[in-house]
Amino acid sequence: MDIKKLLNDMTLEEKLGQITQLNAIFFKKDNTADITGPASKLHITEQDALLSGSVLNFIGAKDMKEIQDVAMEKQPHHIPLLFMQDVIHGYRTIYPIPLGMGCTFDEELVEDCARMSAKEAAVSGVHVTFSPMLDLVRDARWGRVMESTGEDPRLNGRLGAAFVRGYQGDDLKGKYDIAACVKHFAAYGAPEAGRDYNAVEMSEHALREYYLPGYKACVDAGVEMLMPSFNTVGGVPSTANKLLLDKILRREWGFDGIVISDYNAYREMVRHGVAEDDKDAAAKAINAGCDMEMMSATTYLYAKELLDEGRITMEQIDTAVLRVLELKDRLGLFDNPYRAADEKEEAALHLCPEHRTLVRRAAEEAAVLLKNDGVLPFSKKLRKVAVIGPFAAEKGIKGFWACAGRDEDCVTVLAGVRALLPDAEVATTPGCSFELGATEVPDLENAVELACEADAVILCLGEYQKMTGEGNSRATLTLSPAQMELARRVIDANKNTAVVLFNGRPLVLTELDKIAPAILTMWQPGTEGGNAAARLLFGDANPCGKLSMTFPWTDGQCPIYYSHMNTGRPVKNPKVITENGYCSRYMDAPVDPLYVFGHGLSYNTYTYDNLTLSADSIRPGEQLEVAVTVKNNGERTGKEIVQLYIRDRVASVARPVKELKDFAKIELEAGESAAVIFTITEEDLKFHTADGSFAAEPGLFEVFVGPSSDEGLKAEFRLEK
Ligand code: GLC
Repeated sequence: MDIKKLLNDMTLEEKLGQITQLNAIFFKKDNTADITGPASKLHITEQDALLSGSVLNFIGAKDMKEIQDVAMEKQPHHIPLLFMQDVIHGYRTIYPIPLGMGCTFDEELVEDCARMSAKEAAVSGVHVTFSPMLDLVRDARWGRVMESTGEDPRLNGRLGAAFVRGYQGDDLKGKYDIAACVKHFAAYGAPEAGRDYNAVEMSEHALREYYLPGYKACVDAGVEMLMPSFNTVGGVPSTANKLLLDKILRREWGFDGIVISDYNAYREMVRHGVAEDDKDAAAKAINAGCDMEMMSATTYLYAKELLDEGRITMEQIDTAVLRVLELKDRLGLFDNPYRAADEKEEAALHLCPEHRTLVRRAAEEAAVLLKNDGVLPFSKKLRKVAVIGPFAAEKGIKGFWACAGRDEDCVTVLAGVRALLPDAEVATTPGCSFELGATEVPDLENAVELACEADAVILCLGEYQKMTGEGNSRATLTLSPAQMELARRVIDANKNTAVVLFNGRPLVLTELDKIAPAILTMWQPGTEGGNAAARLLFGDANPCGKLSMTFPWTDGQCPIYYSHMNTGRPVKNPKVITENGYCSRYMDAPVDPLYVFGHGLSYNTYTYDNLTLSADSIRPGEQLEVAVTVKNNGERTGKEIVQLYIRDRVASVARPVKELKDFAKIELEAGESAAVIFTITEEDLKFHTADGSFAAEPGLFEVFVGPSSDEGLKAEFRLEK
């Protein structure tokens, strides 16, 4: 297709349509009522809507083909629509939420899962996914932490790039490759008070040092699109933020892909008080660098006036339209507007055994064993098992943003245990509801009786999938009084109890941790959650996940994260409540969290020995080898995630007490030892210095290698001038 010629032949309305994305309902042949509704809200006519160049929120190949036919028939140049969807952690076959995938520390597994979901999405007509989300998260009150891979820039960057590779394959040349869209640029994960859509206020230093590297890793991996965030950064909504969209994204990073707004974010600039009206909002977004407008039509409605008034230029419009047409061309849509959409393949691929096996493995490796007094793994010879709690038989464990995923496809813990132990007697009762703040435990005595009679109890607690995700911030992170009462009475009745947690964020488990012999978080594990949980609980799988996000000791510690500053008055022992003194303490809580970043137990114990550095000092440009021996002291094969952190002791700005710089996931047979070797380069030591440059400064560095962010071996080296 001669894109430049097509662009020249198009009218202004056609061009404006190409950079406007609407919901699928605008294209449904038999749905005029809906079209009138939202269309009137967008102040456009049905005819205007049919000029749109892109659509979101449709489901399935059949739907897609019908919409594509309608649009192409009505389009003056019959330009195919670009179909986009939120394929966040699976399309139909769902793997764990990204916060759980962060706990795998496994780039290959993330890439495989992204690839699988791209395949399922592509045969259902999806061309672009609004994923991966690279918002760094430090505040568990924010509902969308579930969509992030966690609190660490390096981990997020590595996994974000793996998502992009999995989706986009070999530069979109593959039949099942779909374009990726990194979001939400920028720092959407740091809203004040953890409240969604709230202002983000931070120094440009903190922004560049901690919050931007994840997005940049995706840009460097060739991501096709980027979505600015709803929030303001430094008082300016990201949608109109020239520092972000022009200076950093286009000029410094050289991103030449499509910038698509979030849903109605153009018009929301009026509510932010940054735009006079919709027309002003369009001008601000376009002049900042936005190309496409999602689910509002301010560009379509006002661009002509703005052009006449000289507030935007035809070059800006043409550049944006060209980016969209070129992506459609590289996806092959002008040759085949249906691309990979195929009902037969859809039926064959969705939930196929191979995909179920992959997402079960992902659920097993995303799970984190937070505590184990020794009750786990349970013996598979048990005769009587009680599966108790509001999530014992709950199918709603696929997560908040599960695209075409369906609760009915999910395997519950009860079903998983019964399938694994066909000869055992497996009794169950919910005990109470999972409602936030529930106090009643209507089935308590029955639950206690089942616990008394059982050889072992699996107690399934947590937060429901719809209590996390967009718009679902929480001010308290504890389990409900009802769930805690159920836990106290059941654990009191049977000490051979393990708690299985379903959660989309770190919860405050301090009270539960005091009484529960074992706690395993499955996060929202997706379609195979129950089978994965059963295999982990009975030892057919060995837990290996490590926390991608800190679990607070109490809500009041939020935001809390491992790579914090030392302050000028650190407490002596952050693990206890410091009684008094002028130091950085709480009067009613320790400084440390309940469970730290990188924490996660296994059915083995691993020992770390012989930490050695290849030199005591390195010069600029040189690299340092760090070696450690890890031994599996357990009786079963297991995977261990070896983590390497550094600390820059003295620098022109205060540096974190620890920063993850590398990790290695190794598998060891029982009794086996292995040497793990990392390489630290000067690039790893660079940071945004006091004078605003990005450089490594000479001086003393500490190296930590271990099983989590607060355990391991330590050594030192110097970076010479
Ligand atoms: C939502 C989300 C964004 C999503 C978009 C399209 O409001 O903020 O993450 O991709 O709308 O569904």
